[in-house]
Amino acid sequence: MLRWRCALNNCKQIRIFALLLLVISSQWTFAASPEAKYSRDGMVTSRSELASKAGIEILKSGGNAIDAAVATGFALAVTYPSAGNIGGGGFAVIRLADGNVVTLDHREKAPASAHKDMYLDAEGNVIKGESRNTHKAAGVPGSVDGLLTMLEKYGSKSRKEVMAPAIRLAKKGFVLNRDLTRQFNNVAQRMTAYPGSMETFTNKGEKYQIGDIFVQKHLGKTLETISRRGRDGFYAGPVADLIVAEMKRGNGEITHKDLQDYQSVWRAPVKGSYRGYDIWGMSAPSSGGALIVQMLNMFEPFDVKAMGWGSSEVIHLMLEGERRAYADRAEHLGDPDFYEVPMAMLTSKDYAKMRFSDFEKEKASDSNAIGAGSWPAESPQTTHFSVADGDGNLVSLTTTINSSYGNKIVVQGAGFLLNNEMDDFSLKENTRNQFDLIGRSANAIAPGKRMLSSMSPTIVTKDGKPVLVTGSPGGSTIITTVLQVVMNVIDHEMNISDAVSLPRFHHQWLPDRVFYDEYGISPDTKKALEVMGHKDLKVVPWGRGIGDANSILVKDGEISGIHDPRNEGGAVGL
Ligand code: DON
Repeated sequence: MLRWRCALNNCKQIRIFALLLLVISSQWTFAASPEAKYSRDGMVTSRSELASKAGIEILKSGGNAIDAAVATGFALAVTYPSAGNIGGGGFAVIRLADGNVVTLDHREKAPASAHKDMYLDAEGNVIKGESRNTHKAAGVPGSVDGLLTMLEKYGSKSRKEVMAPAIRLAKKGFVLNRDLTRQFNNVAQRMTAYPGSMETFTNKGEKYQIGDIFVQKHLGKTLETISRRGRDGFYAGPVADLIVAEMKRGNGEITHKDLQDYQSVWRAPVKGSYRGYDIWGMSAPSSGGALIVQMLNMFEPFDVKAMGWGSSEVIHLMLEGERRAYADRAEHLGDPDFYEVPMAMLTSKDYAKMRFSDFEKEKASDSNAIGAGSWPAESPQTTHFSVADGDGNLVSLTTTINSSYGNKIVVQGAGFLLNNEMDDFSLKENTRNQFDLIGRSANAIAPGKRMLSSMSPTIVTKDGKPVLVTGSPGGSTIITTVLQVVMNVIDHEMNISDAVSLPRFHHQWLPDRVFYDEYGISPDTKKALEVMGHKDLKVVPWGRGIGDANSILVKDGEISGIHDPRNEGGAVGL
C-alpha cells in the first residue's frame, strides 16, 4: 500500500519514512522480550552485571575475549558466590579469531582416596546427604587452573591485570542488591555449622540488609595470592594449607597431593552440523555437546520451522528426541580418561537416524518409568557467561559448584565455597542424583576421575564466521535449554532476545515427565500432547523457570547480547 501510493505520487517523504521504519524494525524485538544490548566491538553477558563490567573493563584496556572471560570468571566468584567460584570447576568452549575452536575441561576430579562405594552404608544404600552437604562432597577444584591455563595460552594480558577487578570487588566490597541479600539470608540458615560460611554470609552474625556493602577480605587475600603466585597460589602454599585444614575439620578427602596433581585438559570439541551451521560443544566428561549434536541430528530431517514454534507437533518431536538422548547419556557417558565413550557414534547422523527411526508423529513413546521422583525446590545455581570481542574471539564458559552455594562450606580463612560435585557421579547403579539423573558404570566413582556433567557451553558458526555463544545452568535442564536457544536462532530465526527469553520445556527420559516454564505450553497444546501420550506435564517447581542462558548473537558484524531475563544479570557492550 505504502509502496503503491509512493510510486503514484513519487512521494519522497513516504519513502524516507518507510526506509526509517525498516532500519528501526531490524533492531526491534517483536515479542515481549527485553531489549538486547548492541555493540560492534565486544560484549560480556553474565548472571552478575558487576562481573560483566569486570570483563568489559579488560576489553576496554585492549584485552581480548579470553582476557575478559578470565576477568569475568574471577569476578563472578566474588559477586555471585552461589555459583561463580574458585572452589568448583567448569568447561570453556573458545573460538579464536583465526577460526579455530578449542575447549578446556577444568571439571573437578575425585580425590585419590575416592572409591566406588564411598557414599554407601553397610547395606549398600546411599547415605542421604553425604555426597551433597559434607566436606566429603567436594571434588578437587579446577576453576583456578582452568582460568589461568586459558589466560596463559590465549590471553594477552597479565594475571595481575585480569584479576584486578575481582580483587577490588572483594576487598572494597559492593552494594548488596535484593537478589543477593535474600539468597544470603536464606542460605545462612543452612550454614550454622560452618564458621567460615557464617563469617562470609552474615553481617557479623546478623542478617545482611539490601544496600549493605559486602566485603570479602579473606577471598580478596586468596585472590591476591593467586594473582601473585599463579596456580601455586591455590594448589600449593597457604591457600592449599587452608583447604586441607578445612578438610581435616570435617573428614573431607582432599589432600595436598590431590591439589598439586590437578590439571585442566584441552580436549577436542564435539563438532556437529545443523542446517548448514557448525555446532561446537563440550566433549566428555560433559554430556552436553554429545546430546545437543545428537538431538539436532535427529531433528534435521524435519521441517521444524514449518511446524511452528510452540506447536504441539514441534514440542512432541523435541520431547521424543530428548527422551532418547538422555537414555544414551545414562548408558554411554562418563570421563573419557576412564571409560571409552562412543562419541563418534553418538554424534553421527547415521546413529541419530537409527535411534530416531521408531519416532511416531502422533504418539509418545514409553520411558519405561521407574517411579516418580522429586525435584529439589532449588533454583539453578551453576552459571554461564558469554564473551565476544571485535576480532571474532568468542568464549562460552559454564562454571559450577553444583548445588546452590555448593556444599555450603566456606574454607575458613580463605573465603571461598567448596563444591559438592561428587554428587554428579553415579553413587550407585541406577540411583538418581539431585537432578533425578541416573547413571551407570560409565560414571561410577574412581580415584582421579571426573564426574559426568550436563554443562553445555556452545558456540555456533556459519561458513567459519561467529553466530551464537550460549550456555546455561540448570542441572539436567542445561542441555535442553541450550538446544532450544540454538533451535530458536537457527530454525525459528529469532533475534537473541526472543531466543533466550521465550518459555522452555524439558524432558530427560526418566522420570517420564515434562517440565515447562509458566505459560510456556498453552492449555490446548498441553491437551494435544497428553492425547499423544506425554505424561505428567507440569510447570517447573522452582520460581525462576528453566535455565539462565546468558547469550550473544553475531550478525553482519553486529554483536547483540542479553542476560536471561529469568534472573538478575547484565549484558554489557563495549
Ligand atoms: O555439572 C553438572 O551437570 C551439574 N553439576 C550442574 C549443576 C547445575 O547446573 C546447578 N543447577 N541446578
